[in-house]
Amino acid sequence: MEKTEQTVAEWYANHPISAPHILTKLKANRGSLDDVAPVDLYPYDQDHYDGLEANARLANNVRMKPGDGILDVCSGLCGPARWYAAERGVDVTGVDISTNRVDGAKELNALVGLQDRIHPILASAMALPFDNAQFDGAVSQESFLHIPDKSKALAEVFRVLRPGARFSFTDWVMHTPLSDDELAQYRSQIACQSLFSIPEYESHLKETGFAMINAQDVTHVWGDILAKRLQMYQALDAEAERAGNPSKGDDFLKMYAKFVNDVQKRRVGGVRLTGEKPD
Ligand SMILES: C[S@@+](CC[C@H](N)C(=O)[O-])C[C@H]1O[C@@H](n2cnc3c(N)ncnc32)[C@H](O)[C@@H]1O
Repeated sequence: MEKTEQTVAEWYANHPISAPHILTKLKANRGSLDDVAPVDLYPYDQDHYDGLEANARLANNVRMKPGDGILDVCSGLCGPARWYAAERGVDVTGVDISTNRVDGAKELNALVGLQDRIHPILASAMALPFDNAQFDGAVSQESFLHIPDKSKALAEVFRVLRPGARFSFTDWVMHTPLSDDELAQYRSQIACQSLFSIPEYESHLKETGFAMINAQDVTHVWGDILAKRLQMYQALDAEAERAGNPSKGDDFLKMYAKFVNDVQKRRVGGVRLTGEKPD
């Protein structure tokens, strides 16, 4: 693991979306952790924007069908992976750089009986521990912003996809250049390593060998979602701190508020991209 990736993993170690906090909330709301189904976790375990609808869009873009082997790059607590397995009938392999999240994912998968269908692995997106041409599709959500070398990760995803398979993912992008100070703030406070513009992302995908299927600017949709997410983080962080579970504190919340403002002003934003590995 590179040093920068270690910093990212440490940043996620006290993230308020954690397995201990999901279990605390689930138990408080249900009264027990008996007979938990994947659907019971959905309100708590999706660490990306636009919840289950975002999963459905990516699943449709990669044309997931029952029995497919899907790679989730930066799978976190495997919230999306559980949805793909339960709702689309696929088997999912997830890679993530955070030990807490890989261990938490295994615990949550076992809780809902999906431990044989979802395989969370501790690994870097820049060095995928798989043979060539293994997967029928790949997805990722709001994660490439953390990866020190996005081109390397794109090349790895391309390598492990079988010909004809697709990679569909969402990520943060930069619409107008941020100052060096702002970029340093993004790096130190939300572990964002670098941002491409949408045209840069398309060029990198094409250079990697992908045929572009679509590139959708989702900045306008994210503006509202992120304002609500900031409120969620404010409540969640305080709640997690009270419960003695991992929490982040004020600096993170202030930086997140700046990010939301930058999205609403269209300085930064989001994109959903889909590329296909040619036959
Ligand atoms: C915003 S979360 C998304 C988690 C999950 N995809 C979801 O939607 O619930 C980003 C995840 O990327 C992981 N990550 C960051 N850099 C990584 C890298 N270089 N390799 C693998 N995983 C990484 C983090 O540990 C974190 O779990």
